[in-house]
Amino acid sequence: MRENKRLCRLGLGAFVLLGWLALAVGFSTQAEAAVLQNADCIKCHEAQPREIAEKGRAHKTAVNCLDCHIGHPPAVADAIPACSMCHAGTPHFDLPNCAQCHTNAHTPLELTLQGDLVNECLTCHMPIGQQLAAHPSAHKDVACNFCHADTHGYVPDCVQCHRPHSPEQTNADCASCHGAHKPLHVVYDDDLPNMHCAACHDVANEELLANPSKHQSLACVYCHQDKHMMVPLCADCHGSPHAPGIHAKFPSCGSCHNTAHDLTY
Ligand code: HEC
Ligand code: HEC
Ligand code: HEC
Ligand code: HEC
Ligand code: HEC
Ligand code: HEC
Ligand code: HEC
Ligand code: HEC
Ligand code: HEC
Ligand code: HEC
Ligand code: HEC
Ligand code: HEC
Repeated sequence: MRENKRLCRLGLGAFVLLGWLALAVGFSTQAEAAVLQNADCIKCHEAQPREIAEKGRAHKTAVNCLDCHIGHPPAVADAIPACSMCHAGTPHFDLPNCAQCHTNAHTPLELTLQGDLVNECLTCHMPIGQQLAAHPSAHKDVACNFCHADTHGYVPDCVQCHRPHSPEQTNADCASCHGAHKPLHVVYDDDLPNMHCAACHDVANEELLANPSKHQSLACVYCHQDKHMMVPLCADCHGSPHAPGIHAKFPSCGSCHNTAHDLTY
């Protein structure tokens, strides 16, 4: 039924086209005026020239109708170009179905990003895939567009899906410890305020605040440097400050000084 309709349209189109061509030839003194020009398309096709004009981007500026549509029915049965005619030679151009995302060649960057997309994105964003693979986490188990949604370039806030560790934290703070594509690899700079650690370690925080020693004025990350779970040794900073006999007899600093957070002496 559809096929019949199409054949019928084709017949009518061919008729109209041939009539138009005959007209063009008839009124012209030169035979080459019968060749279809880019300016002619709009006489019969309203939508495509408008789409190209509005959102054609490089398909408006770098190519024209006839660069893509070589020939015209009925002379040429299939006037639809393959994308590979002009785009080839990169992993992205090896994807099997361009129209899955580039739904309309006349508006090439009006994308539909649907389904679970990972490998498709990695044709351009290889480093992100490498990061996710090198640091296994639950973020590797969801598709890129689970977070990046259906608009290319959309970047979500962490707090869209997660609650902060404390009411004081904002979305901007998350990045001081977490990367989106390696969320369990917690690293930080040496100027991170204590309140971010205190969100989970209230005991350590309160002990330190209550301790009158000079450790009190030190930042958590001054001692626990760079990476979560890093635990320093007293000797990293103090060496062996007492007479060798004392250290030999009491190998643990803690036997006299208790803990770093609750220093006694
Ligand atoms: C005189 C009217 C007329 C002009 C001028 C014309 N076309 Fe068409 N064109 C048609 C008709 C009618 C059809 C429908 C044929 C069909 O349904 O397959 C058609 C079909 C097409 C198709 C679909 C072919 C397919 O395989 O499905 C393309 C592409 C196309 N035209 C491109 C162009 C371009 C590019 C130009 C300008 C260079 C142009 N046309 C100029 C009337 C015209
Ligand atoms: C970059 C290549 C490219 C350019 C430039 C281009 N087209 Fe197309 N055109 C296509 C492709 C591919 C299709 C097949 C369907 C699709 O992707 O929209 C198509 C489809 C068509 C169709 C058939 C639509 C249908 O529903 O069957 C027409 C008519 C058409 N183009 C006309 C034009 C006209 C007129 C111009 C210039 C204003 C033009 N095209 C410019 C690639 C192009
Ligand atoms: C006749 C050659 C030709 C065909 C066929 C063609 N393109 Fe293009 N396309 C170009 C050129 C030239 C550019 C601009 C330079 C570049 O980006 O490579 C371009 C650019 C693009 C862009 C970027 C647009 C922008 O402004 O940044 C996209 C997306 C695109 N093409 C998708 C497609 C898809 C999808 C198809 C098949 C439906 C297709 N092209 C078919 C020639 C073509
Ligand atoms: C899974 C979705 C998807 C598929 C499938 C897809 N693309 Fe793309 N394409 C994109 C996205 C996303 C961009 C980036 C758009 C931007 O930069 O705004 C893009 C950009 C492009 C560009 C412009 C940038 C460049 O690298 O030159 C071209 C050309 C292009 N695609 C052609 C193709 C062709 C040809 C195919 C089929 C072989 C294809 N695309 C398949 C999503 C897709
Ligand atoms: C054809 C190559 C191509 C494909 C395919 C592609 N991208 Fe991109 N993407 C780019 C380029 C180039 C940029 C940087 C320029 C820009 O912002 O448009 C970018 C930027 C981004 C950004 C960052 C925006 C920002 O503000 O920093 C995100 C997020 C993104 N892409 C996600 C994705 C996702 C998710 C997919 C798969 C659905 C994807 N991209 C597919 C080429 C691509
Ligand atoms: C769990 C959610 C999530 C998933 C899954 C995810 N991202 Fe992201 N992505 C983000 C967030 C949040 C940001 C911005 C914050 C950041 O960069 O740490 C971001 C930033 C980006 C950026 C721009 C900044 C940069 O690092 O270059 C690109 C490009 C990107 N993502 C691509 C991807 C691709 C491709 C995938 C799939 C392989 C993916 N993302 C999977 C949440 C996610
Ligand atoms: C679109 C939703 C979404 C966004 C945006 C998002 N995440 Fe997630 N995240 C998840 C899901 C789903 C999980 C797995 C289930 C869970 O733990 O809730 C997860 C898990 C995690 C985990 C635990 C990982 C594991 O393997 O146990 C951390 C840490 C995390 N996210 C941090 C972040 C950070 C930081 C950001 C921003 C850079 C972010 N997430 C953005 C959805 C998201
Ligand atoms: C001071 C560094 C730091 C900051 C800032 C931070 N986190 Fe975390 N986050 C961690 C640590 C450390 C863990 C891992 C705890 C563990 O091993 O169980 C974690 C775990 C998580 C988890 C896994 C589930 C859970 O609660 O244990 C999620 C989700 C998460 N963070 C989201 C966020 C978000 C969203 C932000 C920003 C509002 C944020 N984080 C800010 C250090 C931080
Ligand atoms: C989201 C909650 C969370 C945040 C924020 C957090 N931690 Fe932790 N931290 C934990 C959990 C849970 C453990 C225990 C993990 C285990 O024992 O498996 C832990 C363990 C530790 C340990 C003990 C390691 C060991 O070997 O006993 C240190 C030290 C530590 N965290 C320091 C910090 C510092 C410093 C900060 C701030 C930069 C911080 N934490 C931020 C949840 C967090
Ligand atoms: C002067 C250096 C120093 C400072 C400042 C410091 N720590 Fe520690 N922390 C240590 C050392 C050393 C240990 C190992 C246990 C010990 O010997 O006291 C430790 C142990 C820990 C532990 C694991 C054992 C426990 O007590 O729970 C956590 C968690 C911890 N620190 C969190 C923090 C937090 C949070 C802060 C900031 C509020 C902080 N630390 C400030 C040096 C320090
Ligand atoms: C990352 C370095 C660092 C680590 C690890 C560290 N300290 Fe300290 N400690 C300091 C600094 C800095 C001071 C202050 C020195 C000053 O101002 O003269 C200090 C001061 C002290 C003091 C003197 C306190 C006072 O108020 O006068 C004692 C005692 C001490 N540390 C013992 C320890 C012990 C015991 C440990 C291990 C449990 C330890 N420290 C771990 C850096 C560190
Ligand atoms: C036998 C108990 C004892 C042991 C074990 C011990 N200390 Fe002390 N430490 C003291 C006493 C008492 C003081 C205060 C009197 C002084 O300055 O000699 C002190 C003072 C210090 C001071 C401050 C010195 C100053 O000049 O302000 C530091 C730093 C220190 N100890 C670090 C350490 C470290 C690191 C260890 C383990 C390697 C350690 N201590 C082991 C008893 C001890």
